[in-house]
Amino acid sequence: MAAPALTAEFLTGLPKCELHLHLEGTLEPELKLALATRNGVDIGQSTVEEVRATYSFDSLASFLNVYYPAMNVLVEEQDFYDLAHEYFVRAAADGVRRVEAFFDPQAHTARGVPIENVILGYHRATVDAAQLGVSAELILCFLRDMPAASALSTLTAALPYKDRFIGVGLDSDERDNPPAKFAEVFALARAEGLKLTMHCDIDQVGSINNIRQALEEIGVDRIDHGTNIVENPALVALLLESNVGLTCCPVSNSFVTADMKATEMVDLLRMGVKVTLNSDDPAYFGSYIAGNYIALAEKAQLGVDEMVLLAKNSFDASWLPDEDKQRYIAEIDAYVTAASTAASA
Ligand code: ADE
Ligand code: ZN
Repeated sequence: MAAPALTAEFLTGLPKCELHLHLEGTLEPELKLALATRNGVDIGQSTVEEVRATYSFDSLASFLNVYYPAMNVLVEEQDFYDLAHEYFVRAAADGVRRVEAFFDPQAHTARGVPIENVILGYHRATVDAAQLGVSAELILCFLRDMPAASALSTLTAALPYKDRFIGVGLDSDERDNPPAKFAEVFALARAEGLKLTMHCDIDQVGSINNIRQALEEIGVDRIDHGTNIVENPALVALLLESNVGLTCCPVSNSFVTADMKATEMVDLLRMGVKVTLNSDDPAYFGSYIAGNYIALAEKAQLGVDEMVLLAKNSFDASWLPDEDKQRYIAEIDAYVTAASTAASA
């Protein structure tokens, strides 16, 4: 049987799981304008082109300076539903079968939006995502540039809705905000039965120390980004031993640094690390998850086998029950067999 051709169509249809996706990062200019009108929020622009022109940055800090003010248009429960629903529709078209999506409650509660609007709106969209063939769960992220006490009070406020999210994460500006700052809130989340993940962003001051803290002091179940670990073989060995996956985002990397970090991802993949590909903030970086698969395949000249391995890793690194992981991985095998048969015909 001939190997399937590594086309954009093959990579788009390949069943996959998205593990690094900020729901607030899916705010397309069209929806931002519609929500601004619906909620009477003055965003300073009145056309899609004007909004799109504000989506411009060259570092994590400059990205975050655009990203948070844009969220002012999200107010009502329906707004959060609409945002997430639009993303799930796009994800389904990109072959996504499972999403474990981040959201940032503090970015909304700090503006006076009740946490219920956020959690209930997003959660309702995850329930409806099943109709699109997408299994979806939520990960509540703390903003690391806010005080640890704010993370604690956010978790306390969210715990009555604990059945509506499966884990906690840590995002925003990493500089001077290491994992250890949040040891207490992560320990509490763990005691509540939640899964743990954390951003260890690309090329940060102290990247290696932060990755070490995440693994050794926090005991994370996954690391978001984290490719700087390749600089430290002892930490890579610990990562392999702990069976912790990395949620990498090639297109996002090329916006917030000068580089996609393809070499680092491929080196780690070939060392046996559970590298996965994801879109991060697709409305801002102009590429949903299939675009990230296509970008890495082109940049690193990968073949079908390694692209399929990346898709299998995405289920393997997910927080699905084992039998579900196996079912999705079998679906990938069937997809590849069908594409091989078509290539031989
Ligand atoms: N919030 C949204 N995207 C992020 C990223 N890539 N790093 C840190 N915080 C974020
Ligand atoms: Zn991210």
